[in-house]
Amino acid sequence: SLSATALAKEKIYVGTNAEFPPFEYLENGKITGFDIELMNEIGKVLNADIKIQDMAFDGLLPALQLKKVDVVIAGMTATEERMKTVAFTQPYYTASQVIIVKEGDNSIKSFEDLKGKRVGVMLGFTGDTVVSEIEGVKIERFNAAYAGIMALKADKADAVVLDSEPAKNYVKQNPGLKLAEADAAKEEYAIAIRKNDKALLEKIEKALTEIKANGTYDKLIEKYFN
Ligand code: ARG
Repeated sequence: SLSATALAKEKIYVGTNAEFPPFEYLENGKITGFDIELMNEIGKVLNADIKIQDMAFDGLLPALQLKKVDVVIAGMTATEERMKTVAFTQPYYTASQVIIVKEGDNSIKSFEDLKGKRVGVMLGFTGDTVVSEIEGVKIERFNAAYAGIMALKADKADAVVLDSEPAKNYVKQNPGLKLAEADAAKEEYAIAIRKNDKALLEKIEKALTEIKANGTYDKLIEKYFN
């Protein structure tokens, strides 16, 4: 007869940082968002149980390397730097870095205009890298996007650089803020997996391809971005 373990579904341990709406955030204490739903759809295709763990963004790749989780989905940009240590799936979303300013501020129209300004970035985010490359910026590092937004509202920063979709989200929820016209280079979000975990990478790749082909992906895009 079949033992209970034989019947148990495979579990996939997934790390995220639920401070990045609409990709991952807390709603009534529950982690939800585009990435979480996408990951659950992948779990359905693979007949696996998705176990989500919330942690600090800069702790995600270390947790992956230490096998505390097997997958990271966190609106994470597949950068060359990160590719040195982890593998990424095909991209699932194209984003860019944008600048958030106060509504009355017309002095910032490009990333170069950030020179001499106090600019909030989030520790370890790609926005941190982008702003760090501009000379003469007074960088203020925060642990989460929301903290940066609060600093901007409290006049402790002149601008915040953040990924496009969360930025739009925060601007909508915080009257008095707007997006500056400047748009930086495109970035691709992808799912991270340990380099030597080839079998899992292949399974998740296949599931992603299926989800993109069968309309499930489009439904999620429609739900979160339209
Ligand atoms: N896309 C940016 C990066 O990869 C920011 C991602 C932040 N995600 C999060 N869940 N906090 O660095």
